[in-house]
Amino acid sequence: MRSLVFLLFVAVANARVYSRCEWARILKSHGMDGYRGNSLANWVCLSKWESNYNTRATNNNSNGSTDYGIFQINSRWWCDNGQTPTSNGCNIRCSELLTDNVSTAINCAKRVVRDPNGIRAWRAWSRHCENRDLSAYVAGCGV
Ligand SMILES: *[C@@H]1O[C@H](CO)[C@@H](O)[C@H](O)[C@H]1NC(C)=O
Ligand SMILES: *[C@@H]1O[C@H](CO)[C@@H](O)[C@H](O)[C@H]1NC(C)=O
Ligand SMILES: *[C@@H]1O[C@H](CO)[C@@H](O)[C@H](O)[C@H]1NC(C)=O
Repeated sequence: MRSLVFLLFVAVANARVYSRCEWARILKSHGMDGYRGNSLANWVCLSKWESNYNTRATNNNSNGSTDYGIFQINSRWWCDNGQTPTSNGCNIRCSELLTDNVSTAINCAKRVVRDPNGIRAWRAWSRHCENRDLSAYVAGCGV
């Protein structure tokens, strides 16, 4: 019984879903406000629509690649999952994008946005955030 309770605790502790403002503050503390010209609200909006602020989100794409973590970073280009042929631009295992240490995911997102396409690399950003009033994404967060 005790070990079952412990296992349940571990499972819950590993599924880290941030609140909007919590995530906004973490992004800010990691230098994302204005990174490559993208305001904090853009990063919050992107994370909302990619993963709903869930560090453990994974999604399989129809082309065989998989997207990982709060930024839904793709295994074809940015990380190695041992399955997809990859250029591993962030030089990490994809599973590292799913941990509570969000520094890894944020550093990788910085790498992605430094490419010529910038933040357009994220389709959810183009679909839900581009050319919109994004003030609601950081409203009331004190950032
Ligand atoms: C993605 O595919 C793998 C097998 O390739 C499977 O183990 C995993 O459960 C799938 N994930 C989702 C979210 O469908
Ligand atoms: C596979 O699909 C994903 C998601 O649409 C995309 O990010 C990735 O670039 C695609 N991979 C290839 C090799 O086209
Ligand atoms: C988190 O990850 C970063 C870089 O990916 C690493 O430098 C740091 O030591 C890690 N922090 C912890 C607490 O493991």
